Amino acid sequence: MAIQRTFSIIKPDATKRNLTGQIAAKFEEAGLRIVASKRIQLTLAQAQAFYGVHAERPFFDELCEFMISEPIVVQVLEGEDAIAKNREVMGATNPADAAPGTIRKEFALSIGENSVHGSDAPETAAEEIAFFFSGLELVG
Ligand code: CDP
Ligand code: MG
Repeated sequence: MAIQRTFSIIKPDATKRNLTGQIAAKFEEAGLRIVASKRIQLTLAQAQAFYGVHAERPFFDELCEFMISEPIVVQVLEGEDAIAKNREVMGATNPADAAPGTIRKEFALSIGENSVHGSDAPETAAEEIAFFFSGLELVG
């Protein structure tokens, strides 16, 4: 597997509880390098656009309201097989199903307030990175 980049969000439930550093440490311990990082607060329109793929799902409105409720930290993670590795470190969507030691097992509050987002495929990783970061913000 080659070196990849993936996109991550530290979600409002985690920034609110001051867990940014502890979550970043999980990425670094897994061999993922944080090559870009910024703290922002989404508008409703931005949250709806980012999660557009889920627009028809019953949890969509609640998800978007949650994602704008507090600042978030958006990051680009780089490393060997980064997309799958990040999903592994994150753990299952529902913290009740997440493996021990994963971010969601240790920190998530519920299936909605689950502390992190991570891209699920190379195409979505590229789209999501470009949604939040300009080329100038991404060092080689
Ligand atoms: O984030 P992940 O890729 O693991 O899950 P997803 O299926 O892409 O769902 C996106 C996000 O929607 C989740 O991370 C949850 O925050 C939220 N969600 C929810 O609130 N209730 C569900 N039944 C499923 C997802
Ligand atoms: Mg997803």
